Amino acid sequence: MSRQLAAGERILLFDSKGRRYLVTLASGGVFHSHTGPLEHDELIGREEGSRVRSRSGARYVAVRPTLAEVVLKMPRGAQVIYPKDLGPILMRADIFPGARVLESGLGSGALSMTLLRAGAVISGYEIREDFAARAKANVAGFLGDDALDRYDVKIADVYDGIEERDLDRVVLDLPEPWRVVKHAETALRSGGILVSYLPTITQAVTLREALTASSFGMLETVEVLERTWHIEGQSVRPDHCMVAHTGFLTSARLFPFGTSEALPRADAEEDPAAAEEDPADAEEDTEPADPTLSDQPGSGETALG
Ligand SMILES: C[S@@+](CC[C@H](N)C(=O)[O-])C[C@H]1O[C@@H](n2cnc3c(N)ncnc32)[C@H](O)[C@@H]1O
Repeated sequence: MSRQLAAGERILLFDSKGRRYLVTLASGGVFHSHTGPLEHDELIGREEGSRVRSRSGARYVAVRPTLAEVVLKMPRGAQVIYPKDLGPILMRADIFPGARVLESGLGSGALSMTLLRAGAVISGYEIREDFAARAKANVAGFLGDDALDRYDVKIADVYDGIEERDLDRVVLDLPEPWRVVKHAETALRSGGILVSYLPTITQAVTLREALTASSFGMLETVEVLERTWHIEGQSVRPDHCMVAHTGFLTSARLFPFGTSEALPRADAEEDPAAAEEDPADAEEDTEPADPTLSDQPGSGETALG
């Protein structure tokens, strides 16, 4: 990437009060704000991080925006997933270059941009044509047209089924992901991962019930909390305001023969020698029960012993 800012590039202008403006540079273009006009030609050809002044003397710093900054500023139709959750989704879904991912719904494309940037190859299902078009435009706007080669968008209802097979990952951001569980079981390869983002805990519980009754295991639901701090001289404390809630992330892995058959059962016949109690096992198990390892979810017994 060139050090100099060029026409056609999207940049972020940062003012002395910390306000941020996303601007696409155009030769002869003008950025207008309450501090007066700023000619784009003042910025084109300058190094990233340069300081410029508007005609009325207001100062700005110009940098290329990060993915998180673009996501918060880009044109949206549907609500986007916030950056604080986008990063953890990459980890929970374990996205890698070349990963074959089914993503649905696409909304404004914030999650698509994140997955594509990490190297995923996406089959995207979206029921609304306008949202699909917006998502593609946002992807191309940030990652360039080449990224569209790895972004196959279908106007389709994912509750009706998934055409693809041997997928590595299924990543969902839609209201009723439990209706996708059966399709994901057939579309994912063994060991594949499903991740779902949901705004309410009641939705997460319904999804967990569907996953518990399926061939998925290793179920986890987490909430990611992010708190910024005010640090100025001796005044060091959490900021008064925070984004207190966004959503819950639920992840699961597909087992080849279903959760209960894929692992030894707790009541299976064992080698008597192996059945002798190990003092370590006699210690009270204070770990929370993992339904993946138990025949009876929540029983607290571990089938693997
Ligand atoms: C909250 S938005 C997704 C936002 C997106 N993750 C982002 O970060 O920009 C939910 C999307 O799911 C789509 N949707 C809802 N039900 C669907 C279904 N059954 N099949 C496909 N898409 C669906 C909606 O049209 C909407 O675009």
